[in-house]
Amino acid sequence: MKSILTGLLATLLVALSFYVEDVNSVAVMSVDLGSEWMKVAYVSPGVPMEIALNKESKRKTATMIAFREDERVFGEDAQIVAAKHPTKSFQYLVDLLGKSIDNPIVQLFRKRFPYYEIVADEERNTIAFKFNDGSLYTPELLLAQILIKSREFAENSAGQKITETVITVPGYFNQAERKAVMQAADLAGIKVLQLINDYTAVALNYGIFHRKEINDTAHYIMFYDMGASSTTATIVSYQNVKTKDRGFVETSPQVSVLGVGYDRTLGGLEVQVRLQNYLATEFDKLKKTENSVFNNPRSMAKLFKEAGRVKNVLSANADHFAQVESLLDDQDMKIPVTREKLEEICADLFERVTAPIKMALTISAEETDQVEKSEELLKEDVKPVHEDPEQPAKPEDEKVKTDNETKSNDKTSNQTETKVEKKPTLTVLKEPISANQDKFGPQELTGSCELWSNVIKIK
Ligand SMILES: Nc1ncnc2c1ncn2[C@@H]1O[C@H](COP(=O)(O)OP(=O)(O)O)[C@@H](O)[C@H]1O
Ligand SMILES: [Mg+2]
Repeated sequence: MKSILTGLLATLLVALSFYVEDVNSVAVMSVDLGSEWMKVAYVSPGVPMEIALNKESKRKTATMIAFREDERVFGEDAQIVAAKHPTKSFQYLVDLLGKSIDNPIVQLFRKRFPYYEIVADEERNTIAFKFNDGSLYTPELLLAQILIKSREFAENSAGQKITETVITVPGYFNQAERKAVMQAADLAGIKVLQLINDYTAVALNYGIFHRKEINDTAHYIMFYDMGASSTTATIVSYQNVKTKDRGFVETSPQVSVLGVGYDRTLGGLEVQVRLQNYLATEFDKLKKTENSVFNNPRSMAKLFKEAGRVKNVLSANADHFAQVESLLDDQDMKIPVTREKLEEICADLFERVTAPIKMALTISAEETDQVEKSEELLKEDVKPVHEDPEQPAKPEDEKVKTDNETKSNDKTSNQTETKVEKKPTLTVLKEPISANQDKFGPQELTGSCELWSNVIKIK
């Protein structure tokens, strides 16, 4: 079994191709809605699959909104505001969707970012940010504005209006969380064609670009995705299956999601917060000023940003300096940090890294006796593949791509004629549905998604 570490970029492109068949000459977009980063793609006549670039010509954009005077800003601009006015910038909103104020994820958010005033929205049993002027903004409303921005990226790239989208959600999202995403899209005036579980999008993408490897014997792939806020391991099988859907026997490749394990609070963000707090403690110890850096939101926001940078540097280097000019009361900070130190302060997090894999394997083993003992599988042929969102996807099977490319590049011709001529490459027979989708209330922070229906057919 191969273990694949993969991002979601480009995977929705594949998912999108399902829909273009039905929407003659209309462009459709997709949003890989990560808690920290979003990636936008679109399909339009003459353009089978394309990633939309943002204002800075980048393929991923911080899932963030900030208010600069009376203006709303997004992405990199919002990151700049965050360092100066942390209470006016909002990130990790996806984590907050559809939750009441006593939800452990909301509590964790408040602990990590104590400078916001978060109040209960009693009527909806959710939360809202209270601004200085007393106005209330729900995470759904803020996310709606981000989605409007994502549509702008897609429209600018596609050169036409877009009203419909596919959005990824974490597979463990329950019904209230999914409804909140739908509500945000509704507020944005964007029609959601489908919410797709993020691991399904990844599995489809992998299957389509490795079609030649799919044969009569099931082979198993694990996808391991550690994002900013959460970690998910998914085990799928790919196999040619005989079907009689169209009245005659035919063989079609299928992907089945066999098991999903997750940890909703394990991810890069927690590492960053740990490092931020370590730097704050070390700075206070230096007693450069009588005030504690912990009490100053702006200083803590600067430390958060610097902790993110240093964390990334330390994944490729053994040591580095964390430095912030004029951190507090005109005092600079320059503190050396080793990777060893970072590993020490995150030791308990690393211990949690394999739990989602074990959970996914346990569920898979119940689904099929083909998946052998989890301990053995964990040792086998682990081949990490990291997808760089800034690089275009490199399909192994170029033919798959050409097969799907539309023959019509004429965007100006008759609307009904200008459409993607080829059949979509993939058809989702059934979307994997997590058992959590039925639940409205709080749920476990770690667990496995039990799948009701889990077959995806690749045409
Ligand atoms: N080089 C790196 N070293 C360590 N962590 C990284 C590196 N690059 C990105 N990260 C972390 O990965 C997380 C983002 O994961 P990603 O899957 O891109 O976002 P999302 O969870 O929003 O989908 C962040 O916590 C980020 O700091
Ligand atoms: Mg992600």
